[in-house]
Amino acid sequence: MPMVYCTDYATIAVMRVLGIESSCDETAAAIVEDGKRLLSNVIASSLDLHAKYGGIVPEIAARSHIEAIMPVIEQALDQANCTWDDIDAIAVTYGAGLGGSLLVGVLVARTLAIAKNKPLYGVNHVEGHLYANFLTESALDGYVLPTEQPEFPVLGLIVSGGHSQLVLFENHFQYTLLGQTHDDAIGEAFDKVGKLLGLPYPGGISVAQKAAEGNPAAFMLPKARMTSTSPALQDLRVRRHTSLTQDRRDYWSKRSYDFSFSGLKTAVLRLAQDQIGEDFTFPSTRIAERLDELQKADISASFTQVAFETVVDKAVMAFKEFGPRTVIIGGGVASSQVLRGMLAERLPIDISYTDRKLCTDNGAMIATLGCFKHSLNQPQSDPYSLDIAPNLSM
Ligand code: KG4
Ligand code: ZN
Repeated sequence: MPMVYCTDYATIAVMRVLGIESSCDETAAAIVEDGKRLLSNVIASSLDLHAKYGGIVPEIAARSHIEAIMPVIEQALDQANCTWDDIDAIAVTYGAGLGGSLLVGVLVARTLAIAKNKPLYGVNHVEGHLYANFLTESALDGYVLPTEQPEFPVLGLIVSGGHSQLVLFENHFQYTLLGQTHDDAIGEAFDKVGKLLGLPYPGGISVAQKAAEGNPAAFMLPKARMTSTSPALQDLRVRRHTSLTQDRRDYWSKRSYDFSFSGLKTAVLRLAQDQIGEDFTFPSTRIAERLDELQKADISASFTQVAFETVVDKAVMAFKEFGPRTVIIGGGVASSQVLRGMLAERLPIDISYTDRKLCTDNGAMIATLGCFKHSLNQPQSDPYSLDIAPNLSM
């Protein structure tokens, strides 16, 4: 562990973790110091190669990772002015994600951990998204970060292309999944609506742009009502609601934090068919050419409104039920200004958002979580056997 000297001449050790991320189409590596200071952040995306297919092609993503991963890691060391001697541990995403993509990052991290003799930590990608919010300092220009780290209990909302989840963290590594999507993730629903409307991939960004020209109240679209609750959520309620009356306990026990976006997506398809005067048998691939720009803008705005209300409603309900000290949000969809505005309006506390570059997939979030795993003595992963877990949940 390298030593640095404070002005009062006391010697303190700094800890630097290399984070590697390759779960989808971004090949990313970053170095984070002490779980709060960003030293480097390098991202190579194969998004352009997928755009013409209207979605991620797993084989293309895996091949791009193989080509990019070593140059990306070397650049991350370079940008941070670090050699391998300055690195205390390696953290890598081992799930959830695309099998072929995860395999590249995990095999490289395992090899480097053995060759450079570093501790290795397998990291859950979804958990990582939230840890981007623990970065408060940057050695790099162009990053706007929160000034304080989140305080526990923390309510975390993950909204990305692969995940929609609400989690309550009572401390590091002590969390309960309150609810999650039963079908499409919110970003995936945006991407599919974008495709239907003939907008460029990824739909999250293009639907958001189109929505800005439309009227969010133009069309009524349905919001899913879920009733499911997990045993882990009910256990949390038993533990946290001891001071509530029986009536209040009964009230909360019936509340669900699960999401669904497939009904909304189908409703958008039916609406678009209706707008061009066709019935449900009309092929979705031929709708876009028959819609005018105003119809596309109004459909985008109405869809965005209901999709965001769905997650904001649940976040507000969780805030009321569990009274967290901090609310954090992660994942590509967290970069939406509209979503941020809705949360600001409905939640009684301010949210400090991380930089947009740290909302989409990156290595810094993995390195930050790796720092906490290393400093809080979490179990290390075996570099000879760490396996991928494409369906890993929180
Ligand atoms: O977190 P991320 O980079 O990848 C996953 O782990 O899935 O998120 C990518 C997702 C895509 O579905 C993209 O359409 C969506 O984030 N997205 C947005 C916005 N920017 C990206 N969705 C809504 N509004 C945005 N401004
Ligand atoms: Zn992600």
